[in-house]
Amino acid sequence: TPRIFSGIQPSGGLTLGNYLGALKRFAAEQDKMQTVYCMVDQHAITVWQDPEALRRQTRELAAGFIASGIDPQRSILFNQSQVAEHAQLGWIFNCVARMGWMQRMTQWKDKAGKNAQNASLGLFAYPALMAADILVYHATHVPVGEDQKQHVELTRDIAQKFNHDFGVDFFPEPEPVIEGAATRVMSLRDGSKKMSKSDPSDMSRINMTDDADAIASKIRKARTDPDALPSEVKGLEGRPEARNLINIYAALADMSVDQVLAEVGGKQFSEFKPMLSDLAVDKLAPIGQEMARLMANPDEIDAILRKGADQAREIAAPILKKTYDIVGMVR
Ligand code: TYM
Repeated sequence: TPRIFSGIQPSGGLTLGNYLGALKRFAAEQDKMQTVYCMVDQHAITVWQDPEALRRQTRELAAGFIASGIDPQRSILFNQSQVAEHAQLGWIFNCVARMGWMQRMTQWKDKAGKNAQNASLGLFAYPALMAADILVYHATHVPVGEDQKQHVELTRDIAQKFNHDFGVDFFPEPEPVIEGAATRVMSLRDGSKKMSKSDPSDMSRINMTDDADAIASKIRKARTDPDALPSEVKGLEGRPEARNLINIYAALADMSVDQVLAEVGGKQFSEFKPMLSDLAVDKLAPIGQEMARLMANPDEIDAILRKGADQAREIAAPILKKTYDIVGMVR
């Protein structure tokens, strides 16, 4: 049976990249198949997290999910550490995955940098836990932004090697689902860099908690080139900043890039930016307001996460048990 799983780290605030690359798409999937969405707090602690900040960010992320339209009645919504099966299967996968596979991960190379000796062991093993997140539900589809594609492919490798080593056909090979105009939202200051919550410049990103004024001023100051907008996609070649703003517009408006260019081709940025700004404020400011409203009631958020964890465990526990049987653990 088809099933969707995806996760987001509570390692800082949510950005427009998280919204367009993940949350908005998660909400749209709810009508199509069973959806399981997770706040991956155990992934977050692979780099240092202040405990109070982690608690706050986990609740804020839950509020972000709900405010973005993920309905706890229709989706299973929970945080990873409440469902021990993730870490339990993660250990098995640590014994399936190879060091060389992990060393090839671009996120590992970027995050550990030249100082890999000082990175946590968890940061290195991160993709094996991610594989466990997905496979402990036998999930078949994983909606993510482009930067997570390599990790989902590694998940397929782990499923395949497990099945091969134990001579079973147990774990499915999940598909990364990377669709739409904004699977890689770029920095507003530099069209060659991904929009990221860890960029030192707050002007480089739109935060989901930004108010209307902040959203408008960041778009007004976003880097562009001096030319008018093209009316066809090929006119965006070599213009990463223009491409990024058009992609953002298309994703926010639920339009294709072709449709957007048909409308705005020939316009100057001075004319296009206010259009984008109005659209962004219209779509994003209510989400930020709803997040603030939900955050005022943390007990309610915690109750939703506990209920989600119970539902998640119901799926994960039998799959872990079967895995232990396959591996030869005496129960
Ligand atoms: P994370 O927390 O970095 O990001 C969460 C989701 O947001 C997407 N995303 C973006 N999409 C478009 N443009 C951007 N600039 C942008 N920035 C972030 C990410 O691709 C992701 O879909 N390893 C994952 C979390 C994870 C997970 C999983 C995901 C743990 N277990 C299992 C899927 C399935 C991560 O660090 O995402």
